[in-house]
Amino acid sequence: MIQLYAGTASQALGQRVAEQLSQPLSTIQTHRFSDGELYAKLKPSVEGAHVCLIQATYPPTDHLMELLLAIDAAKQAGAHLVTVVAPYLGYARQDRLHHRGGSVGGLLQAKLLKSAGLDRLITCELHSQRLTASFDFPWLHLSSLPTFLTYIKQLQLPRLTFVAPDRGGEARARAYAQHFESPLICCNKLKEHPHQATAIQVQGEVKGADAIIIDDIIDTGRTVYLVTQQLKAQGARTVRAFCTHALFSGDVHTQLLQAGLEEIVVTDTVPLKQPSRHIQVHSMAPIIAQSLRQEA
Ligand code: R5P
Repeated sequence: MIQLYAGTASQALGQRVAEQLSQPLSTIQTHRFSDGELYAKLKPSVEGAHVCLIQATYPPTDHLMELLLAIDAAKQAGAHLVTVVAPYLGYARQDRLHHRGGSVGGLLQAKLLKSAGLDRLITCELHSQRLTASFDFPWLHLSSLPTFLTYIKQLQLPRLTFVAPDRGGEARARAYAQHFESPLICCNKLKEHPHQATAIQVQGEVKGADAIIIDDIIDTGRTVYLVTQQLKAQGARTVRAFCTHALFSGDVHTQLLQAGLEEIVVTDTVPLKQPSRHIQVHSMAPIIAQSLRQEA
């Protein structure tokens, strides 16, 4: 049996995974020194056990540090195997060198997890598969498609059309289009800085479409805002956004609704900062639990 622990960043999702597995969940215990430095401890004893640590690594970076310390604690205490479930892997957008002299946070994070002692990583809807080339440990990537499928079917949209907000998201949106045998529209995202959308060019016929934008992340909301504006301007009947990781920096949902979105659908890989009747949250717990069952 796997011993489940959830960290500060993933308490609610950890609880849902534990319920799915009908297993107890323990909390990664943390203590702060007076200067703010973190210390982590795992109780009960993990000697000889297969330990699963559930912790997303969205900011602040203490979430990542807590995870590294917990992996170390598990290994120091003689855990036989450490599986990390990072439902949202922060720093994953930093998957390559954008500028000479810049850092590549995603690669560094992978090295840190490995050196702390992780044996296996399970993560959800990575920004791009490029990062996995740097994983020199077993990993499993879970798509949110199975989580969103049922709801999309229930909507019974007459002119269902999937939209990739940028070239990087094309394969992700194409998987939905293929599953539903629906059209796919791709956008070009123009940026002045990496990960800061300044304009969107929609390529394809959208008049009368019931558009569903598929993206991995809503951060500032700028990407979805610009895509929605363009789709509406070009005659889309309805526009919805299905995005896995609800980072929501700033007052995202107000600006998105102003752009004319019907609704925003996200998962629980990151706790929702701004609950609203226009935002639906679908849990990734069933598919995470399923992958842990197969591992046990
Ligand atoms: C970037 O390429 C990602 O796939 C997302 O589109 C992006 O991170 C969303 O960020 P924001 O909400 O700040 O536009």
